[in-house]
Amino acid sequence: MTKLAIDGGKPVFETPAHVPPWPPVYPETAEKIKELYLSRKWSFYAPREVEFNRLFAEFTGAAGCAMMANGTVTLEMALLALGVGPGDEVIVPAHTWLATGEAVVYRGATPVVVDIEPDTLCMSPERFEEAITPRTKAVIPVHIYGSMADMDKIVPIARKHGLAVIEDCAHAHGGLWKDKHVGTFGDIGSFSFQQSKLLASGEGGACITCDAVLAETLGRLSHIGYQYAAKQGQAGTPPPEGLICRNYRVTDFQAEILISQLEHLKEDTILRANNAEFLRKRLDAIPGIRVQARGRKTTLQSYYLFTFMVDPAALRPGITRKEVIEAIRAEGIMVGSGWGHPMYKQTLWSVPSSMYRLAGCENAERILHEELICCALSWLMLPQDELELFCQAVEKVMAAYGK
Ligand SMILES: Cc1ncc(COP(=O)(O)O)c(C=O)c1O
Repeated sequence: MTKLAIDGGKPVFETPAHVPPWPPVYPETAEKIKELYLSRKWSFYAPREVEFNRLFAEFTGAAGCAMMANGTVTLEMALLALGVGPGDEVIVPAHTWLATGEAVVYRGATPVVVDIEPDTLCMSPERFEEAITPRTKAVIPVHIYGSMADMDKIVPIARKHGLAVIEDCAHAHGGLWKDKHVGTFGDIGSFSFQQSKLLASGEGGACITCDAVLAETLGRLSHIGYQYAAKQGQAGTPPPEGLICRNYRVTDFQAEILISQLEHLKEDTILRANNAEFLRKRLDAIPGIRVQARGRKTTLQSYYLFTFMVDPAALRPGITRKEVIEAIRAEGIMVGSGWGHPMYKQTLWSVPSSMYRLAGCENAERILHEELICCALSWLMLPQDELELFCQAVEKVMAAYGK
């Protein structure tokens, strides 16, 4: 057996892998940012924000798009636009970033946390349906890491019970389910453009919707009530009575960056998806390893992270996920355990237990605490010979640490 790098052997990656830096930067965008700076038109329904909203709606097939400050307030504004408030319950999956649940709390509503499917790691449609009560008002499926929640099951269940559907697409820009873009299956799709995301402008987010009236409401909500359709800089008609609007505006600098990235999104999504399939085939063949399953009806999987699980029962005594991660890292691949916890156990989760309800999260607990291993999306842009080395590194570690 080859000696592991962690034990002093030669690493599989003898020279560092060619992982492209993230986010990508383009010289022509740098020029445009300079022009924008000199134009002094930086915000307030400024031209590039309006243009990005138009382009992203077109790209996703939505009726409208409203850029906002980040992918947390997009969730909060989506809930507000759909009438979710105090006394309501909103069903969310256990496996997500804490923003998904905290946005519900910001509305004075109660997050009800349900378990995930063990293969896709997304919300279980069955657990979702079981958790519905007369107080349930909405559901937020999350398309997590490199998979998609089962929209063919979740949307009909929600409609049967009269619930609103907000898709949290913070990890899924460019992803297609039966050739339709994620975020267009329910009422509103919420996106994050934070630094690490597939479209990244440092901070930022957007809501998309196929409902023109909702699109108008979302535009107003994030622009302190200004009517989006009004002439730039003019208030237009007043907001509907009782719609208390916010200032969650972005700047044109963010929009300019996103417009240039959007031009590359489809091509890059296809490249990452093809490379992920190469890794999937090889890694799924290693005893004790299984790759996060694709969404069941996915036609183009958008990978935010590449994620696989190690089966603790397949490891030698004394070896856990922690040792596997350390050994893979020593071979030259920067893997980690992701958030390491379900949403309600993440370090920054600050919601008191009286303000949310857990509806049984055994899969999420087990998988996130003991099994999940992931690496950043740039690793899916390695050249082919290094993708091969990636597989060899995992094979080598499992040959040493497997039973
Ligand atoms: C699943 C999910 N939803 C929502 C968010 C919130 O996005 P933001 O950081 O832009 O507020 C994130 C951010 O990482 C996320 O991972």
